[in-house]
Amino acid sequence: MNKVDILLGLQWGDEGKGKIVDVLTPNYDVVARFQGGPNAGHTLEFESQKYVLRSIPSGIFQGDKINVIGNGVVLNPAIFKQEVQELEKSGHPLTQRLKISRKAHLILPTHTVLDMAYESAKGKDKIGTTGKGIGPTYTDKISRTGLRVGDIEHNFEEKYQKVKERHLNILKNYDVTYDLEKLEQEWFDGLETLKKFEFIDSEHFINNTLKSEKNVLAEGAQGTMLDIDFGSYPFVTSSNTVTAGACTGLGISPKAVGEVFGIFKAYCTRVGSGPFPTELFDEDGNRMRDNGFEFGSVTGRPRRCGWIDLVALRYAIMVNGVTQLIMMKSDVLDNFQTIKACVAYKVNGQEVKELPFDMNENVEPIYKEVKGWNTDLTKVRSEEEFPTELKEYILFLEKELEVPIKVVSVGPDREQTIFKK
Ligand code: GDP
Ligand code: IMO
Ligand code: MG
Repeated sequence: MNKVDILLGLQWGDEGKGKIVDVLTPNYDVVARFQGGPNAGHTLEFESQKYVLRSIPSGIFQGDKINVIGNGVVLNPAIFKQEVQELEKSGHPLTQRLKISRKAHLILPTHTVLDMAYESAKGKDKIGTTGKGIGPTYTDKISRTGLRVGDIEHNFEEKYQKVKERHLNILKNYDVTYDLEKLEQEWFDGLETLKKFEFIDSEHFINNTLKSEKNVLAEGAQGTMLDIDFGSYPFVTSSNTVTAGACTGLGISPKAVGEVFGIFKAYCTRVGSGPFPTELFDEDGNRMRDNGFEFGSVTGRPRRCGWIDLVALRYAIMVNGVTQLIMMKSDVLDNFQTIKACVAYKVNGQEVKELPFDMNENVEPIYKEVKGWNTDLTKVRSEEEFPTELKEYILFLEKELEVPIKVVSVGPDREQTIFKK
């Protein structure tokens, strides 16, 4: 029986997962998303075209591979329809390539309104959600009151009205304005698009694929520091973004996990609120944002930028059991004289190397400085062309993180990906 390889983010999301899933897809038969929803924005660039995927796995562009939206995902038909329309313009036949789990939960229009209502009620403590209804949908899932894709096949209208009424009752307590009629029209329109796709019992599909010696790649969304259990709670998303999430989000045994590809930026970013010990508020941070075009692919918000945080990365590697590392956006540091890496934190005067319970309080990064490479990496296509300082940065990170860096990315395009020997 084959195993499932998993690719997931080790920081606060937007590490470049979409790009690398697309690059790795030729080695796989099936690519499956296991959690999250349209809060994700996964960007792919090839042949001078750029695509941003929200719920559809990033294996969708590589020929006749099967892509699966797994049971752990939450799906909004209205956003799904927009995504399908965008991709169909590019001439890719989606209905043959994409299958959807009957057990995936549906984001209803009222979930989106609830998300906004809860968020604005938090005032200054707001999480900075993407406003896509993620939290309320997973809340309903865990409260055993959600609706699933499989529900569309039987008496859906009746079940929908019941959940909607419950949501409207809750909303009476909040001061929000919304046009439910418009939202519902878009949503039910989207439902018609969704129905054109094959609904499957994806846990059987994935396990049968493995049994027939075919290869499966699981694609994570968000990042480990946004995980509901291990992230910087409460400033997190509402799903398990870690390796274990692929087991529950696809219905595979932990014994069926193969390689775990952990992906990170050569520096660090975060969107939304919450702790970020290595965040920069100076010229270096601005330069990272400008060079890396660090603006959210879903909301367009400027991303907060800072130095790489090896305390958080070591933690992410531990909880995920990462076997191979992938370093992204190395080119963004091309014009830095020196590069800093946070090797430990000072917490209440004590040096610590393990991530503390509360990252917010008195966490001061301790940095090691290394020399920048001052070279344009975007044209580099092989390891042999790496400047010495980049080689040294990689060796330093591998020593600190105790996992090999197997891939180095030097630009957004498929071609700008270097596999190390
Ligand atoms: P994801 O959510 O993890 O898939 O990442 P996003 O797509 O949200 O954000 C990554 C951004 O960086 C996208 O705009 C990519 O096109 C871009 N990108 C990916 N890899 C590289 C790289 O190596 N260098 C540069 N400069 N940009 C990259
Ligand atoms: P990808 O898959 C970066 C952040 C939001 C907010 C918090 C909670 O593209 O890496 P939510 O809408 O999930 O309730 O928001 O999580 N967030 C992301 N940040 N990349 C993402 O996805 C994100 N998905 C959610 O900004 O701080
Ligand atoms: Mg993203």
